[in-house]
Amino acid sequence: MKKYPFLLLVCALPLLTLGLAFAEPPPVFDVDHDLYPLYPSLISYQKSGAEFTPPEVCGECHSKQYEEWTGSVHALAFKDPVYQGELNLAVKKAGHEISRQCEGCHTPAGVVTGEIKGPGLKGLSDMAMAGVSCDVCHSIVGTTHWQTPSHEPENGSFIIRPGVDTAEGAQLVKRGPFTPSEECGMGFHECEESSLHLQADLCAGCHQVYHYESHFPLEATYLEWKHGPYAQRTILCQDCHMVDIDTFMKTADEFRKPQRGEYRHYFNGANYLLYYLAAGSAKKAGDEELAANIMNKYEMAVKRLQAAADMEISPVYKDGELAEIKVRVQNIRAGHNLPTSLTNIRQMWLEISAKDDQGNILMSSGAIDADGHLPENARLFNSDGMGDDFHFAVDPWVITAFSRHDTIPPKGYKDVYYGLSCKPETNKIMVEAKLRYRQADQKIAEKLLANVPKDIDLEAVYGLTEVPTLPVVDMVVKEVSLNPSK
Ligand code: HEC
Ligand code: HEC
Ligand code: HEC
Ligand code: HEC
Ligand code: HEC
Repeated sequence: MKKYPFLLLVCALPLLTLGLAFAEPPPVFDVDHDLYPLYPSLISYQKSGAEFTPPEVCGECHSKQYEEWTGSVHALAFKDPVYQGELNLAVKKAGHEISRQCEGCHTPAGVVTGEIKGPGLKGLSDMAMAGVSCDVCHSIVGTTHWQTPSHEPENGSFIIRPGVDTAEGAQLVKRGPFTPSEECGMGFHECEESSLHLQADLCAGCHQVYHYESHFPLEATYLEWKHGPYAQRTILCQDCHMVDIDTFMKTADEFRKPQRGEYRHYFNGANYLLYYLAAGSAKKAGDEELAANIMNKYEMAVKRLQAAADMEISPVYKDGELAEIKVRVQNIRAGHNLPTSLTNIRQMWLEISAKDDQGNILMSSGAIDADGHLPENARLFNSDGMGDDFHFAVDPWVITAFSRHDTIPPKGYKDVYYGLSCKPETNKIMVEAKLRYRQADQKIAEKLLANVPKDIDLEAVYGLTEVPTLPVVDMVVKEVSLNPSK
């Protein structure tokens, strides 16, 4: 018995020290500031004497790619007035440091060279203004997707190196999908074969937008894709967004990979509003050719949206009487959720009405009013942001979670039921349903455009004296007639 208290002491000591050692768990989102000197942007820059090249110069030899990229959302990523308005607000509300995070994706070359110091366009070089330009993508040499604080691709987690220093001086090196030929680069640049350019990982670091401190995924297009049926069949972002509309439809319908010769540099998505603004600006500047190029991209974006979804309307009978109308909304061709990216800003909703054979309205929902406002009862497919205090929030520096997230997964669907409150006295019930889309709520667009930096004159550049009612695209329109009883 005498030995017992001694043993206890021996055992208790290491336990005590262990207890102390574990008192402070490591943070969940640990930031390696040596790896990420430009934090909160996770972009890494391998500097040498080789400088970035503006797209106009690449375009002298690669005119086809240049023409396709010009006026694309990537080309507009920094000049975009909606972006500039939000950036300006971000800096005012969250402090200057946050601008590095935004710019690491919206103009990577501008931020790594230290040229860009915040919102506004005044006095900036062509290279900084060019947004996601040729030399951004074709200088990407690797990624740090798994070393990030979230251990997922986020906030620009790629490594960029426009070239290397050699004994003869700085040498530009451009990376692309092919095994280089003898004359590749024609003395202007060396070529390096890159399998990264044949992977969605190239796009991932910018298409996963995380909160700058809490690392909440505000935009998760890459992971939505990765966890879906297209990734499982190696159908990449490039296979839908770097081809024309017909090829994209075949890719999505048949899980068919495009032929090498079918790739284009359009990067066309859903943002028809930005093309519309940019085409207006080109017209204002008297450049009809550019305006036509951009309007072509506007039409492509509208067509892409209209190809993305489908809808089925069917009756639900109870005791032989029509009780509800069921609308099934299907994501048939988006490789990620529908809608994706800025899901708390984008609006996709159902507008529906049911009428009797005299044209009297039996039920209606989701009709927009003359000022562009949606009614409370509209069925939206998107998300609501909430801040640290769990209250509703809109801005990306405030949102640290979603209180509601209701988008449609790739090849998936959502069902919506509409009740009929009374028994209709009619032989036929006519139902019309529309799946509608716009970039933002009218008030949000007005707020962002009211906050563009002072050096962007919306009237002089875009011909805007006020924010017009935002255009709405009808993605799908269906009409059916239903029997009131079975
Ligand atoms: C967002 C990233 C990105 C941007 C911006 C970009 N490219 Fe590419 N580029 C790619 C990818 C990915 C491929 C490979 C496509 C494929 O699978 O064939 C590619 C392929 C190429 C090729 C090989 C031939 C071809 O067309 O497939 C050339 C040349 C090229 N790009 C030049 C340019 C030029 C010039 C610009 C600017 C006007 C540019 N790129 C902008 C990502 C980009
Ligand atoms: C990880 C890369 C990344 C970061 C960081 C980032 N963005 Fe973006 N941003 C994107 C992408 C990708 C889109 C396009 C999404 C879409 O079209 O739905 C986008 C779209 C936007 C838009 C919508 C533009 C339009 O015309 O509708 C705004 C506004 C915007 N970003 C502002 C910001 C601000 C402000 C910050 C910093 C607080 C920021 N972004 C940080 C990648 C990023
Ligand atoms: C003096 C002419 C010239 C200029 C300027 C030029 N290139 Fe090239 N580049 C070529 C030639 C020639 C090839 C090989 C044929 C081809 O693919 O079109 C090539 C090939 C490429 C490829 C394909 C490499 C591969 O193996 O997949 C990429 C990517 C590329 N260039 C990017 C760029 C970018 C980005 C710029 C601007 C920073 C640029 N080039 C400027 C002439 C040029
Ligand atoms: C350096 C960061 C970066 C990389 C790399 C990048 N993107 Fe983007 N991308 C952006 C930003 C930022 C925007 C939005 C700009 C805006 O709305 O102002 C965008 C917009 C887009 C859009 C248009 C969205 C719309 O609303 O119409 C598509 C499509 C797209 N990217 C596809 C791709 C694909 C495919 C790749 C890979 C081959 C890729 N991106 C690589 C930053 C990037
Ligand atoms: C099977 C085809 C397909 C694949 C694969 C695909 N997309 Fe899309 N993408 C679409 C369609 C269709 C739309 C338009 C509907 C929508 O907004 O979701 C779209 C829209 C977008 C938008 C614009 C969203 C907005 O609100 O403006 C972005 C950004 C985008 N895609 C990026 C990507 C990235 C990054 C990948 C790869 C990780 C990818 N897409 C893979 C078909 C595809």
